[in-house]
Parts: sequence; structure tokens; C-alpha cells
Amino acid sequence: MSTSGVGRRGFLGYVGTAVAGAAAGVGGATLAGSSGRAEEQVPAGDAADSSAWAGRTIAPHGPHQPGVAAPAAHVTEVVALDLLAGTDRDALGRLMRVWTGDVESLTQGRPAPGDTAPWLATANADLTITVGAGPGAFGPRRLGAPPAGFGEVPPMRHDRLQERWTGGDLVLFVAGRDATTVAHAVRRLVADAAPFATLRWRQQGSWNGTGPQGQPVTGRNLFGQVDGSANPQPGTALFDETVWIREGAWAGGTTLVVRRIRMDLDTWDELTREEQERSVGRRLDDGAPLTGSKETDDIDLRARSGERLVIARDAHARRSHPGLNGGRRIFRKGANYVLDTERGVESGLVFSSFQADLLDQFVPIQQTLDELDSLNEWTTAIGSASFAVLPGFEPGGWLGQSLLA
Ligand code: HEM
Repeated sequence: MSTSGVGRRGFLGYVGTAVAGAAAGVGGATLAGSSGRAEEQVPAGDAADSSAWAGRTIAPHGPHQPGVAAPAAHVTEVVALDLLAGTDRDALGRLMRVWTGDVESLTQGRPAPGDTAPWLATANADLTITVGAGPGAFGPRRLGAPPAGFGEVPPMRHDRLQERWTGGDLVLFVAGRDATTVAHAVRRLVADAAPFATLRWRQQGSWNGTGPQGQPVTGRNLFGQVDGSANPQPGTALFDETVWIREGAWAGGTTLVVRRIRMDLDTWDELTREEQERSVGRRLDDGAPLTGSKETDDIDLRARSGERLVIARDAHARRSHPGLNGGRRIFRKGANYVLDTERGVESGLVFSSFQADLLDQFVPIQQTLDELDSLNEWTTAIGSASFAVLPGFEPGGWLGQSLLA
């Protein structure tokens, strides 16, 4: 815990700290690598002292931007910007220094420089801000070469992409426990980018990664499925291998694919529970594979019941499994959205996937699913964007320094 990078002054006192500690059991592992900050425990009586309200925050420094491995946040806003024609390498460097200051302030609960609503910067919101660059930010005039294995996701047969949710030269992946704090951070970051870049799209979603007793849980998408069970776990060698770029100027960074996926809840609801479970290969109540007994069990792709495969040939968890994809893995984060549109209420998932090598990890898995996946009947990608996530930075350093300095 003391190396979790989650600095906290327990305004709830020891009891609150214990609960936060349980939640950070995930965070502790996930934040490995971000600069460790000793945990401070404040006795309950100290809550009357306003300094005890400093709240817990996630340290912004370290070899990786901490928002990638941080536990799935309750609120996520993904924001894409387009660079203005005149934004060259020097200007990008200026923007990155400005954003670094914003990240260092806002994530620690302090107003950003020149903040017009400083009261909205609050600690204890688990705020993380992760910055990345899209295809248009590369080239000799700008960031130079992208990391090896970076590229755009090729068109998929099932895609119905809309311009308004697709592409972008820069990304801000802003996540936290509270929508007001997240919205305020986005507003500041976009305002500070105005001399360099304009807003392209902005999408928001929510995730409940906390169980009824406050314990960390995997969370569910709007089909009701437990979603994220087979993810590599932050803090493990498998996670590091899957997610982080290891060499060159991009070492410590990663790549991010954001897909906006519409989900047809009305036709999904017409299925029997058995049909719904068959389409993924996992149970709805606890997320356990149909071949196993608990959520963390790996699925058994060979298991049969008589002649029949227990995990169907077109089940989503079979098609996306490393066993069918040459051992390839990705790290997924979801954010559920519901939006009132001209054509009625639309529901879906802001699906984010982090991987060291976008073209060799994400794309082949996505292609396998595009070829055959039972879920294709109820899910449609309507937006898609690829970004390279900048390496982390240390105190005194800045975002993108290894690429722009
Ligand atoms: C709305 C769309 C989607 C839904 C509802 C969905 C749902 C699920 C569910 C319920 C699971 C099983 C539990 C788990 O391991 O997380 C799963 C697993 C998985 N999904 Fe998806 N998914 C969607 C889109 C995608 C996309 C676009 C990709 C990648 C291109 C993907 C890749 C994976 C992978 C890699 C696994 C883990 C397989 C394993 O190792 O067992 N999913 N998904």
C-alpha cells in the first residue's frame, strides 16, 4: 500500500482509510510504477482539522501516466482535439508544458493556473489525466515518428463509423470518481489548448467498479455482463508486457484505441438468459466461464458437453481469447453511455483498449471478432480513434519531453 502512489490523508479516519485501502488493493497494484508516496493515516478525530481534508489523490508522476493502470473510474471522458495548422513542434512543446502544469495541479486537487472556477478543483476524486497523440500529430514538423506498431485501425466489415466520433490529433483521457471534477478538468485543459488545438469530439461514460460493500469489483456493461474479467492485472509481468512500450523514445508509453460501440438493448432483451450467456461464454450472475466456477477462471476452449462445444464457436470470449489470437492480449476499460439522439435513446460502450503494439495486438483481435462474433448482432462500432499515449514524467519534467525536447 505504501508504494501505491495513492497519497491519502484519511479524512474518514482509520476506518475510512481501511475501506480506501481495500479499494486500493486494486489501485496499489495498478499504480505500481507511479512515484510512491507514503500513506498517511489521520486519526478520525483529526477530521475536524481542515488540513485533514486534503483528500487522497493519485500522483501524476512516474515512468507511465498513471491513468492507464488506475482502476476503472466511475466517470471517464475521452476528448479528441485537432491541431491547428500552425501548431508545429515548438508549439506542441509549449502545449505539453501547459498541460503538464494543469495535470500536476488538477489531479492533486489544486486549481490549474488561471483557473476561472478554482473551487471545482477537488482532491479525493481519484482524478487522472492521460495524454496521447493521434496520427496527425506525427511527422517531422511535429512529434517525429510514432512508436513502432502504431497505426490506424483498418475498416471492419461491421463498422458503421460516424465522423463525429472518429479520429483526432490529440487525446485527453480524463477519469475520476466525480463527473463535476472530471468536467472541470476537461474544460480547463481544452481552454488551455485553444491557441494550439480545437475540440473534435468528446464522449463520456460511467462504470461501477465498486461492490455493495465498497469492495473493488470488475463492473458491468449495459448488457449486464461482468466485463473486464480476463484483463491482465495491473502490477503483474503480464500486464507490463501487454501494455507498456519498452524501447526507444516512447518507452513507458502505450497505445490506445477508443471505439464507440452502440449496443442494441431492445433486441438483446428479447433473448433468453441462456442465449445471452452463450453469446459470450460466461455466466451473467458472476461472470464465471460456462466451463468454470468463478470469475477469475480461464475459459476452457475445448470442453464439450456431448458433441457440443460448451463455449460456442462464435462466443465472444472464445473469439477474443489469446488461444484464438496467437497469444495476443489487450487491456480493456469500459465506460457505459446512454444518449438521447434524434433517432431516440442510444446506449453503448466507450471501449478503450491499451496495448504496447496496436497493429500487432489490437488489430488482429478486432479482425477475429469482425470475422465471427455472436455479439456482432447486437453491437456496432460507430466511432474509432487511435492514439499513442505519451510516457510518464517526473517532477520537474514534462509530458512528451523525451520526444520534443
Ligand atoms: C460492446 C462491445 C463489447 C462487449 C459488450 C464486450 C463484452 C465482453 C465480455 C462480457 C467479456 C467477458 C469477460 C471479460 O473477460 O471481460 C469480454 C471479453 C473480452 N473482450 Fe469484449 N466486449 C465488447 C467489445 C470488444 C472489442 C471491440 C474487443 C477487441 C477488439 C474485445 C475484446 C475482448 C477480449 C480480448 C476479451 C477477453 C478474452 C479472454 O481473454 O478470455 N471486446 N468482452
